[in-house]
Amino acid sequence: MSKSHKTRAPGKLIFSGEHAVVYGNPAIAMAIDKFATATLSWQLDADVISFDLPDTQLLSHALITTLEQLKLTLPHGLKIKVNSDIPISCGMGSSAAIIISFIYGLTTLLGENLDLETYFQLGRDIEHLPHGCSSGTDIYLALHGGCVRFENGAAVARTIPDIPLYMVNTGKPETTTKQCVAAVTKYFKSQILLKDFAAVTNDFDWALQKNNLKHIQACIRANHKLLTHIGVVPEPIQQFIAELEKAGAAAKICGAGTIAGETAGAVLVVSERDISAIVEKYNYPMFTLTGNPHGVQVI
Ligand code: MEV
Repeated sequence: MSKSHKTRAPGKLIFSGEHAVVYGNPAIAMAIDKFATATLSWQLDADVISFDLPDTQLLSHALITTLEQLKLTLPHGLKIKVNSDIPISCGMGSSAAIIISFIYGLTTLLGENLDLETYFQLGRDIEHLPHGCSSGTDIYLALHGGCVRFENGAAVARTIPDIPLYMVNTGKPETTTKQCVAAVTKYFKSQILLKDFAAVTNDFDWALQKNNLKHIQACIRANHKLLTHIGVVPEPIQQFIAELEKAGAAAKICGAGTIAGETAGAVLVVSERDISAIVEKYNYPMFTLTGNPHGVQVI
């Protein structure tokens, strides 16, 4: 077996605009300091492809799509291992980070010199499998890192904010991103709702650039109301967020949410006050988050 080739790509959080971003609305999102890492090594004495990873279906789809779209062939067998410290299927971009760390690893191992736009289009095509219809936000951040305003497939850079951020993991949702994206389509036939989502995200964008914490929190609360309206925030999570709000915090689901069950993946909390007593009561793990300026890289 030859030396291994390692690449890693970051997960993400969405501050504002998930779901609506699928319909060309803006979203504000940031890469985080949690990563998927792909380790690839040629198996020179065999022509088998072996996987050691959390989602074999996603990875075999990524492998086949990459080889087909870029018209590449593997000269030898390949051993593929992917690990991730991004909670899986919790709205933190784990699928995108897995896809990008893998396709970047595979193509650089094959000596291909591709531009980031090619990776973006390829990654987005692959992400249609877990997302149904992907906006490309998660893929963009896994590739580029940083904090961005993402709209209609294009991004404008924003400064990584310095605000008191927490991520609470309420547990893996019962439904997938694809199911959620399909279920909320009916709501986005309304131009009024699209405008409401856009207004909240534009307001958030302004508040973030002014570093106005009170205004940022007001936007997060307004965004939570809209996400609740489209049915992706289950009752127990609504209660949890109501308690956080009473304590002066602002919180919302981050990512697709869920259309069934009692867990909704990651909940983003912006709070200057200590919220640990509330979070402990619900027995949810909580961690602080830092923005990550770097996108995919060979490590
Ligand atoms: C998933 O992280 C965010 C969604 O808006 C889907 C997408 O943007 O592709 C629900």
